Amino acid sequence: MSLVTSKGMLIDAKERNYAVGAFNANNIEMAQGIIKAAEEKKSPVIVQVSQGGAKYAGIEELGAAIKKMAAKSEVPVALHLDHGVDYKYSVLALRAGYTSIMFDGSLLDFEENVKITKKIVEMGHIAGVPVEAELGEVPKDPEKISLDELDKYKTKPEEAQKFAERTKVDSLAVAVGSMHKMKVQEAELDIEQIKKIKKRVSVPLVLHGSSGVTNKSVIEAINAGICKVNVHTHIAKSFTERTREVLEKNSNMVDLRKYLKEGREALYEEVKNKIQIFGSEGMAAKL
Ligand code: CO
Ligand code: CO
Repeated sequence: MSLVTSKGMLIDAKERNYAVGAFNANNIEMAQGIIKAAEEKKSPVIVQVSQGGAKYAGIEELGAAIKKMAAKSEVPVALHLDHGVDYKYSVLALRAGYTSIMFDGSLLDFEENVKITKKIVEMGHIAGVPVEAELGEVPKDPEKISLDELDKYKTKPEEAQKFAERTKVDSLAVAVGSMHKMKVQEAELDIEQIKKIKKRVSVPLVLHGSSGVTNKSVIEAINAGICKVNVHTHIAKSFTERTREVLEKNSNMVDLRKYLKEGREALYEEVKNKIQIFGSEGMAAKL
């Protein structure tokens, strides 16, 4: 298999009622753990680099490493720009050969979000690259916002329909009761809202902030129409906790490989669990 766009994967996920996991990588070890888990589970996978991750590791440098891993992989892998907030990151990602990009205009007003998303979709499609956008807002500060305040952030189905039609976006991230950066799985999604949006929007729907959602609710959301599930905090937590444990037990350890290898292993186990929950196990062969 090889490096592919996210387009075909997400359409297949929609048709056959599963979700493709989109896992954030901020370094080589994370990307290796993610791809190895997808191979083990014979699942398609999206490896994503956020704008923040791109600033940290280099959009071209980290992208090049992931593209090489994807080319050698036994399963289809898409390289996705997650949360491109600044227009220029869409351009940089296309130039660096990303095969899927997200523009996050969720903090803009509706018309401005439509306008910029539309421009990026036009540009992406010229390059043969699908574009994800966000409408409504999946908040990024669980310390300040509580779960019962999330109603006002939710995606409105009528707006989602207008947004998808006007922008011609390939997939849409919706706000349905999750938040980014949550460290405990305690949120329950608004499944009815997902169903209402799905009735009006034909493109695959994307869930952000899944790390804070119960497994049961994620499964219900996939049955209701979610086709891509983003995971960052949860796998970062397993990587970091294992690394911390190893370092605490071995205070003389200085060889990075010895503890990063352990972190990578913990992340790999966690990605396999997620793939199981998302129902994408074995789906690589059918793509
Ligand atoms: Co997100
Ligand atoms: Co995220």
